[in-house]
Amino acid sequence: MKQVARQARAEGNLTGLVPTMGALHAGHLALIETARRDASPVIVSIFVNPKQFGPSEDYSKYPRDLENDRQKLEEAGVDFLFAPSAEEIYPPGFRTSVNVEGLADRLEGRIRPGHFRGVATVVLKLLEIAVPRFAYFGRKDAQQARIVRQMAADLELDSEIVVCPIVREADGLALSSRNQYLSPAERKAATVLYRALSRARRALESGERETMSIVASVRQELAEEPLAAADYVEIVDANSFEPIIRLTRSCLILLAVRLGATRLIDNMQVEVTDSRGGAPGGVICTL
Ligand code: PAJ
Repeated sequence: MKQVARQARAEGNLTGLVPTMGALHAGHLALIETARRDASPVIVSIFVNPKQFGPSEDYSKYPRDLENDRQKLEEAGVDFLFAPSAEEIYPPGFRTSVNVEGLADRLEGRIRPGHFRGVATVVLKLLEIAVPRFAYFGRKDAQQARIVRQMAADLELDSEIVVCPIVREADGLALSSRNQYLSPAERKAATVLYRALSRARRALESGERETMSIVASVRQELAEEPLAAADYVEIVDANSFEPIIRLTRSCLILLAVRLGATRLIDNMQVEVTDSRGGAPGGVICTL
């Protein structure tokens, strides 16, 4: 992979890399479609990264179907599939890890200690292997995308980090490889993430700007779904990921919800364009 990628770069090509853990769905395919538009060759990596799973998480049962994925990538016109083994990525004696301070400790990072250290470490390694001009990530994992972008800036990486919109099912559920774990009843209940974010959107559109009040209505919507248990509901500044008290400028409403043994995350991007003096002006909510 390193040889092919370096040759592509030497020939002046703009390589695109789409890092994934496989079990490919339409969310992954949308990243690939975007990559195909501005990059060539397009490399997709499939690597279920052991370092980003906690000891009690689903590493061993994470869905793996390389043959099916390979066919999807071929149909999508992907040039290279890079599917290394865990031993190739982490040979005996591997010692280095990447920690993006601050950003990696809250929200997902607080509930999944070490998760983002594992993500940043493998993403840096994949970027070093594939030396892409562009690397594509989904806003579905907004904190991950923010951390990767910070790492790329801090370490002067030559790759531009491109963040793509969230792809959803018709009923609003964000596509995720983990949706496969849901029982039929849990799958129905899983729309509660979208319903809760939509409720926040309605509150924002009718002029509400207080974090506490919006979080309360999101939590109420989640509480009305008996199969769902909220891990967190937070509103943060889109850049610093620090909690905010009132919604101004660019922020994100992030939530993590458990349905039985399955944990799902989702978020809504909010751009507040209120006129000065506090009179409610515009708000653009992107689910
Ligand atoms: P994975 O969960 O396979 O996701 C790969 C990429 O697809 C991520 O950038 C993710 O945000 C994006 N993605 C997943 N579901 C999406 C959806 N519904 N809409 C849009 N994009 C979506 O995220 C990882 O793998 C790993 O942490 C990885 C970055 C590969 C590092 O191991």
